[in-house]
Amino acid sequence: MRILVTGGAGFIGSCFVRLALENPSTEIVNIDKLTYAGNLENLVSVADRPNYSFHRVDICDREAVGKIFEDAKPDAVVHFAAESHVDRSIFSPLPVFETNLRGTFTLLETMRANRVGRFIHVSTDEVYGSLEAPLEADEKFPLEPSSPYSAAKAGSDLLALGYFKTYKMPVMVTRASNNYGPYQFPEKLIPLMISNALEDKALPVYGDGMQVRDWLYVEDHCRAIMAVLEKGRDGEIYNIGGNRSVPNRWVIEQILAITGKPASLMTTVTDRPGHDRRYALSSEKLSKETGWHPKMDFEPGLKATVDWYRANSKWVWDVKSGEYQSYYAKNYENRASELNQVRS
Ligand code: NAD
Ligand code: TYD
Repeated sequence: MRILVTGGAGFIGSCFVRLALENPSTEIVNIDKLTYAGNLENLVSVADRPNYSFHRVDICDREAVGKIFEDAKPDAVVHFAAESHVDRSIFSPLPVFETNLRGTFTLLETMRANRVGRFIHVSTDEVYGSLEAPLEADEKFPLEPSSPYSAAKAGSDLLALGYFKTYKMPVMVTRASNNYGPYQFPEKLIPLMISNALEDKALPVYGDGMQVRDWLYVEDHCRAIMAVLEKGRDGEIYNIGGNRSVPNRWVIEQILAITGKPASLMTTVTDRPGHDRRYALSSEKLSKETGWHPKMDFEPGLKATVDWYRANSKWVWDVKSGEYQSYYAKNYENRASELNQVRS
């Protein structure tokens, strides 16, 4: 099977590429614009494989995308490419609109002109918005996104599903909860807290730190996408959750315990505007239809992730040089005036 992957140099996409290439009869064609989040270092272990190729392409570039589809003639497309960070989407919504909506549109239009067996649109639980406990979103739950990021993802989900209904294109949408694991860019909660803790820097907790997220190990997410690719039904949505909804503050305390750093590093900062209080997801449909279950429990998964960041300080150093510095200053320095130690 030849799979065209978009955004395969990012955190989840690169994990999918590495896992998929474990099967020698799978061929991967990876297209990625290499934004700040795309990193070919994530793919050094597979870069020389004969069944792997990389093309630096912006998914909004209709001509370039069209040429790739014509040359590669993929059996399936797995679409990861996105602007994926809520805080950045609040500062700069335009690239989010461009990639998440127009980029997805470009791919769907290209696919309309080129027969492809399957299209998986990789999306997020954030499209359901903030849920009161003890609610869990199933796939029929109403969409109520809060940020430019989640609103653009919700829009692209609906666009993809519209192409199934109208053009009978073999589209499926997956909605996963918060991922964590190796190679995640240190702008998201877990890698940011790990890398700051390892450098004895302040750990910035938004608001009271009691916001709840459901955590999914990245390899479990990628195996779920493979299960959907194999057994999913066209036009369907599949939630992918980790069955582990916990408050941010608790996650940060675990990171401090694993890294052996003091609780005094935790620092409250001004909350994120429109901050969703709680996400929770039911993945019963996926488990019933494909037999998929998450394999990694949160505690060993977090320990493995900390170990990876410890062992890969050069990777962290490289991604934190340059653009990261200006993003970090923009996101955290405005909040710094309100820095307070969390009383623990
Ligand atoms: P990421 O930010 O690590 O990677 C995104 C990748 O897309 C990068 O390699 C980047 O270079 C590429 N890209 C961005 N704009 C592009 C464009 N215009 N053309 C081509 N490539 C472009 O993101 P991630 O965390 O790996 O997320 C991947 C997908 O999974 C996204 O669609 C995201 O919405 C979804 N998702 C993420 C999470 C999570 O917790 N990270 C959870 C659920 C769903
Ligand atoms: P994040 O990793 O950005 O994912 P998302 O907002 O898409 O769920 O953030 C996860 C949670 O952690 C979210 O409630 C915001 C919070 N958070 C902090 O408290 N401090 C931080 O520095 C970051 C990046 C996130």
